[in-house]
Amino acid sequence: MTNRLATTFTGLEFVNPFVLASAPPTESKAKILRAFEAGWGGVVTKTIGLHPVENVAGPKTIYQRASETKPYVSRYKRPDTVSHSSWNWELISDQPLDLWLPDLEEIKTTYPDRMVIASIMAGAGSEAEMDNWRKLAKAVVNAGCDAIELNMSCPHMDRKDMGAHIANDETIIRSILKAVTEAVSVPIWVKLTPSSSSLIDGAKAAYEAGAASISLCNTFPSLPLMDPETLKFEVEVDGLVTSGGLGGLAILHQALQRVSDISRAFPDKAVSGIGGIRGFREAFNFIVHGAGNLQVCTAAMEDKGSGGVGTNLIQELKGDLADYLERRGHASIEEFRGIARERIVEHSRIRRKSEAYNGGYAA
Ligand SMILES: Cc1cc2nc3c(=O)[nH]c(=O)nc-3n(C[C@H](O)[C@H](O)[C@H](O)COP(=O)(O)O)c2cc1C
Repeated sequence: MTNRLATTFTGLEFVNPFVLASAPPTESKAKILRAFEAGWGGVVTKTIGLHPVENVAGPKTIYQRASETKPYVSRYKRPDTVSHSSWNWELISDQPLDLWLPDLEEIKTTYPDRMVIASIMAGAGSEAEMDNWRKLAKAVVNAGCDAIELNMSCPHMDRKDMGAHIANDETIIRSILKAVTEAVSVPIWVKLTPSSSSLIDGAKAAYEAGAASISLCNTFPSLPLMDPETLKFEVEVDGLVTSGGLGGLAILHQALQRVSDISRAFPDKAVSGIGGIRGFREAFNFIVHGAGNLQVCTAAMEDKGSGGVGTNLIQELKGDLADYLERRGHASIEEFRGIARERIVEHSRIRRKSEAYNGGYAA
């Protein structure tokens, strides 16, 4: 029997379109092997870099829940709550490249039919940093990775030549893609930040410079809440916080908007949808806006009893998608991918109760 869940994305064959995003669920060999055993179609590794990182001396991630009673959104446990978001200020992988390489090889040898996408990050603005991108890219491809995701979206970097800071700079985007595409020949995905003021321009530069796909979204820059009584932030170190990243259900609608923007601007190009996927309904929404691949982070981390890799979630996602495809008589997600695109229009094209609106230009 044919596998209706199978998808071809950026030339790679996925047994299903569900991929663990670059984050704690993909931070180690043990977790990735567990994720593949559970059925995930692919993983994007936790971002690998050459510059050592040291995380803050406190929790790196908190899970915020919403309730009808006060406090409405908080990390603190209380009855009858539902997941709202994750907030994190975790840096990239603290495992050095040399230790990643044998792990990647083993993962790929153990699960040759699953896609391993290595997320990598270096700086910009000098030939030495371009060499770092080349070095990382060559090393992970030699270790067997099927594709690379360039992290141009980490929201909490002090260095101005890294992460989300560079996603507004088309020259830098082009220079990194040039370096990486000259070094390796696997598909290159580019993960952009939702906080960019020129997302379409950044995506255009990336696609023109050889990106096979754009991955959207990384977390949204955000601050944790302060308790009015204790005057403490819900996460802080020595009373201080810095901008972190919001993920999970709270970012779903904003992530959909960005995926839709990219997909309508470049309908023939690939987009990997990320942000707030907790089950089939959210995944479905990314697909109808044009995403051909779906990445999940917060919901996998919150999946109870899964060791933080979404072992129950992937069963549910696969089962619900398979049911939907069968019920609707679809051979694959390609048959409904992008169907929402033409129904997203300018405000003035929405019917008014009486007179034509003319987009606000009528005298
Ligand atoms: C704790 C944590 C660490 C993360 N680390 C990375 C990272 O190293 N590289 C990266 O590209 N994205 C990173 N992300 C972002 C996720 O890959 C994903 O884009 C984001 O969480 C939105 O997806 P979600 O709503 O399913 O959580 C991280 C997210 C979290 C919560």
